[in-house]
Amino acid sequence: MLERTLAIIKPDAVASKYTGKIIEMLEESGFSIIGMKKIKLSKEDAKKFYIVHKDRPFYDSLTTFMSEGPIIVMVLEKENAIEDYRKLMGATNPEEAEEGTIRKRFGKNIERNAVHGSDSKESASFEIPFFFSEIELV
Ligand code: CMP
Repeated sequence: MLERTLAIIKPDAVASKYTGKIIEMLEESGFSIIGMKKIKLSKEDAKKFYIVHKDRPFYDSLTTFMSEGPIIVMVLEKENAIEDYRKLMGATNPEEAEEGTIRKRFGKNIERNAVHGSDSKESASFEIPFFFSEIELV
């Protein structure tokens, strides 16, 4: 069954001009981009998006980072999209990510790790409508 997941190219990767290379990896891996926009989050937006991490020690630093510059938000569609995109991203910490993954190639450290992806169906159903209405998904 076709599945949708929310992907973000984070401020570090956008600033480093890795957007094109990351999109190429997504399309070569069989994902269809059915929604995409470039936006800049406020600190408050970032806090709402990452509310699930509100009690973690990195919450303040993470939300400052995610609001420091433009990001690309995308909805990806594919069979098994959530799990397959997590595999393509690689481990949260780029030092632990496998060769050939996005975070291995483009991540700088555990926080500035180039990309985000929904980690479950539940998080996808919170994250996709956070950024996109149904008529923006084609
Ligand atoms: P992401 O997949 O977007 O989910 C939460 C983010 O918090 C994660 O990627 C990292 O950017 C950041 N993060 C996760 N763990 C840590 C950590 N231990 N220290 C700092 N940032 C982290």
